Amino acid sequence: MMTEKCDVLILGAGAAGMMCAIRAGQRGRSVIILDHARAPGEKIRISGGGRCNFTNIHAGPKNYLSANPHFAKSALARYTPRDFIALVEKHRIAWHEKTLGQLFCDDSAKDIIRMLLAEMQAAHVKLRLETSVSTVSHDGGRFRVATSGGVIEAESLVVATGAKSIPKMGATGFAYQIAEQFGLPLIETRPGLVPLTLDPAALERLSPLAGVAVPAEVSHGKTAFNEALLFTHRGLSGPSILQVSSYWREGDTIRLKLEPASDIVALLRQAKQKNGRQSAQTALAEILPKRLAQHVVEKSGLTGNLADMSDKALTTLANEVQDWQIKPAGSEGYRTAEVTLGGVDTTCLDSRSMAAKSVPGLYFIGECVDVTGWLGGYNFQWAWASGQAAGEFA
Ligand code: FDA
Repeated sequence: MMTEKCDVLILGAGAAGMMCAIRAGQRGRSVIILDHARAPGEKIRISGGGRCNFTNIHAGPKNYLSANPHFAKSALARYTPRDFIALVEKHRIAWHEKTLGQLFCDDSAKDIIRMLLAEMQAAHVKLRLETSVSTVSHDGGRFRVATSGGVIEAESLVVATGAKSIPKMGATGFAYQIAEQFGLPLIETRPGLVPLTLDPAALERLSPLAGVAVPAEVSHGKTAFNEALLFTHRGLSGPSILQVSSYWREGDTIRLKLEPASDIVALLRQAKQKNGRQSAQTALAEILPKRLAQHVVEKSGLTGNLADMSDKALTTLANEVQDWQIKPAGSEGYRTAEVTLGGVDTTCLDSRSMAAKSVPGLYFIGECVDVTGWLGGYNFQWAWASGQAAGEFA
């Protein structure tokens, strides 16, 4: 079989890989991008409930977890949410801010994939789908990659194969394998933005609440997120839990403050004054979902009408709502995790170009790198920014 030659070979046609291909192609580099999947950008397609939360206008280094919190600064500063919005607008894709700076397509996530494909075509990038990689070698300054479609030789090799989340969608630890092959260190990986599970006893106690959603402030140490929480058949989920899950480690306790914007004691006092003959459960059901109100009152052990309850009892009830301490048993794992924490250690990468310091021409971008964003468009912004950074140099 003939050996094909190009300047830049990109492994993985996801968000980061396609962005890198566009920039490198625009610079006049001959680019091949390959993927073992049938279609490019499958995670983009399913993201944001099919509408792709493609960036967050507030994205900055503080929204990312990494063993080196400074590493992401350079790439994020040089390709900002405004830059991606300009690209989206150039392609006349309508978008809106949903909440907390999160930008979504009005219509479909497929618009973002179409946009990236159009830009790749304009930059003369060659896309190879359903192509797997068997070996990668590096000699004489060029990379030689044996694929199911033949051998490709390239000056620069960009690894953009993502991470371990959602193996059902073709996620692999391939990037880590390549990093190890070239002697680059890895930071231990673990699932992030993932629902947390509870032990059987806690699960039984909370089982009547499965399906109940409530605004909550969920905290782990000093890190707190104020978003919705969802009780599930397995444990806890919803945006606030997913956010905290990236900080949580086995054995840690998390704190839940349900209905954090309400002064529950004041509300209960008012309810008592207005109608002391009502039950605490009825009063709490004015602000909480019914099943949660019932659970809270049962858990407090308090009985009788509001009129029978002292201020101390009302405070006890309020604490039952706003001061939960929970020790999750685990997480749902990579099966449902939106991202993978850890990955290629940033100490071995140049933060401007994403190039491996010890292997000229080798780059790592996107989720395989030890930079993980919060929920809310931050992970795509990292994919765009790191892809752009490598595309500038590869
Ligand atoms: P990505 O996973 O996108 O791409 C990697 C590519 O490499 C894939 O196409 C894969 O097929 C290919 N590949 C893997 N191994 C290979 C191999 N051995 N050979 C060849 N090809 C290989 N983020 C966000 O900011 N907003 C959002 O709305 C969402 N929503 C969301 C929903 C769900 C359900 C998930 C699972 C994740 C999100 N995310 C998100 C996270 C976001 O999808 C993720 O951070 C980016 O897709 C990462 O981009 P990458 O290009 O690094 O990897």
